[in-house]
Amino acid sequence: MCGIIGIISNKEVTSRIVNSLRKLEYRGYDSAGIATLVRGNINEVKCEGRVDALEKDINKFNLKGEIGIGHVRWATHGKPSKINAHPHSSEEVSVVHNGIIENSTILKKFLEKKGYVFKSQTDTEVIAHLVTEYLKKNSLKETIIKVLKKLHGSFALGIIFKGQNDFIVGARRGSPLAVGYGPNENYLGSDSYALKSMTNKISYLDDGDFCIIGKDQVQFFDNKGVKKNNKVFNLSKEDLNYEKGDYKYFMEKEIEEQPSTINDCINEYIDKHSNKINIFNFPWKVNNFKSIVLVGCGTAFHSCLVAKYWLEQNTSLDISVDIASEFRYRKIRFKKDSLYIFVSQSGETADTYAALDLCKQNKMKTCAIVNVIESSIARDADMVLPIYCGQEIGVASTKAFLGQMLVLYILCTKISFDQKYINKKVYQSKIKNLLSLSNSTKKTLKLDQKLLDIGKVFANSKGSMFLGRGYSYPIALEGALKLKELAYVHAEGYPAGEMKHGPLALIEEGMPVVVLAPRDEHYKKTISNMQEVIARGAKVLLITNKNKDEVISENIWEKIEVDQLDQELIPFLITIPLQKLAFYSALEKGFDIDKPRNLAKSVTVE
Ligand code: F6R
Repeated sequence: MCGIIGIISNKEVTSRIVNSLRKLEYRGYDSAGIATLVRGNINEVKCEGRVDALEKDINKFNLKGEIGIGHVRWATHGKPSKINAHPHSSEEVSVVHNGIIENSTILKKFLEKKGYVFKSQTDTEVIAHLVTEYLKKNSLKETIIKVLKKLHGSFALGIIFKGQNDFIVGARRGSPLAVGYGPNENYLGSDSYALKSMTNKISYLDDGDFCIIGKDQVQFFDNKGVKKNNKVFNLSKEDLNYEKGDYKYFMEKEIEEQPSTINDCINEYIDKHSNKINIFNFPWKVNNFKSIVLVGCGTAFHSCLVAKYWLEQNTSLDISVDIASEFRYRKIRFKKDSLYIFVSQSGETADTYAALDLCKQNKMKTCAIVNVIESSIARDADMVLPIYCGQEIGVASTKAFLGQMLVLYILCTKISFDQKYINKKVYQSKIKNLLSLSNSTKKTLKLDQKLLDIGKVFANSKGSMFLGRGYSYPIALEGALKLKELAYVHAEGYPAGEMKHGPLALIEEGMPVVVLAPRDEHYKKTISNMQEVIARGAKVLLITNKNKDEVISENIWEKIEVDQLDQELIPFLITIPLQKLAFYSALEKGFDIDKPRNLAKSVTVE
């Protein structure tokens, strides 16, 4: 998704803007650009494609400057092209923008009548002209207030002004924006990660606010222009040097890291001396609520679906799960005795944030499960449970999915014990089982010899299906999502028992099908469903777990057996072969594994 960087300094800024744009590459983008002031005049360089190409052009035109803004664009209005790349400039100002201006067509007509000529098909260009128009009769502050009022939709903005070497303006509504503080220089960034190589001192703009960033000071204002003091956070530096190391792809590294990220998370939440769960910041009594609503998008949504099974099994609460983009537009009957949990790796997903915001407006109890603890969702929820898995760069979420499930499982176990739904013995045995999870994931990672060849078959298929029952059903959805997004192969996740109600018609000779059949209460039924697809010609990859009894079924194409572990923890293990399957399928196709086409890591538009 789009990314913004701005630097004001008394030193050259161009190369640092380019480096920071590289840090934002993980978000997914299709074009890039930069604008600086050279002797007070706006100079821009833009290109379609990667930041490397932008850097070449910057060197060709020898673009320099001590104040500048840069952008990586993920197309929304207008195709990816040099013209549509940001910044968008008028004679007077240059603008970078994340988000969508919903009333851009009306504003464009208004500006065209006044004689403004548009070069791009973007919604952003209206902002450059609107600022130019208001500046004619208003002070800088009045202009910003009036322009922000005119804009409908979501945005994070960075603006520089002709002849004004002393400041950059930042503003946000809906999309996040951060300010960083350095020695005799300051920065603007769409996320703290872009700024981390320059500073660990960060402030965040509140929704609807704007700021004026000088070399030596930053002023924050609300939407009426009233001055504010924003808190300065000292960010942890641990993620600063997150690199690929010996791996060729971040995704590969992130899959392999899972035993240690699981360990890190367990160390944060489990006191190994007392065998107890440490969630000290839980501000409510569990008896105060009767239901839990879990909300997320994509992979995060799948972790919520797994948690529904855990919570229903282990607590007396009513559990429901919602996709954030649906939740925010439904006529929800908010209940005071509900806890609303928002799950998001980035903590910036626009739909999930909007769903949280809706709950806050209705004065609901909210909890965020995030990876990025400085994110908007983490900052705005009543309580935060981080997943502690470190920076995730690969667009396809892997270690964060296991981290989300882990925190949800730990929370479920805490609630279950606090509710007295389980006794101390069961509670402690659940904790003991959790302590062996990391080791079992390590063993599962070694099971990948066959997956390289299996991946080739899935990569070259017309389509595939992923089937499971119970906890394995959301994992089937997750496996199918991973294959779709990485290998661009049509894949469907389905409850195994639902096949005969329609999708069985899709099965034909040679179609690869993953059947998730761990030795749980559903095992026998899932094996029957597997036989039904084998009988119709499917090539079945069976993922199950070790047991003294052999699987009784003929004609299974391939079988992978993960560790025998407590049933409830099996979702963690059976996910890993599916992550690797998608990885090898994408490898076979030669696709960009860390940045699949059309996708972005942090989805900050609706
Ligand atoms: C898929 C994937 C996405 C994200 C989704 C939500 O591999 O990564 O489906 O899970 O966009 O993102 P977050 O968790 O950042 O809210």
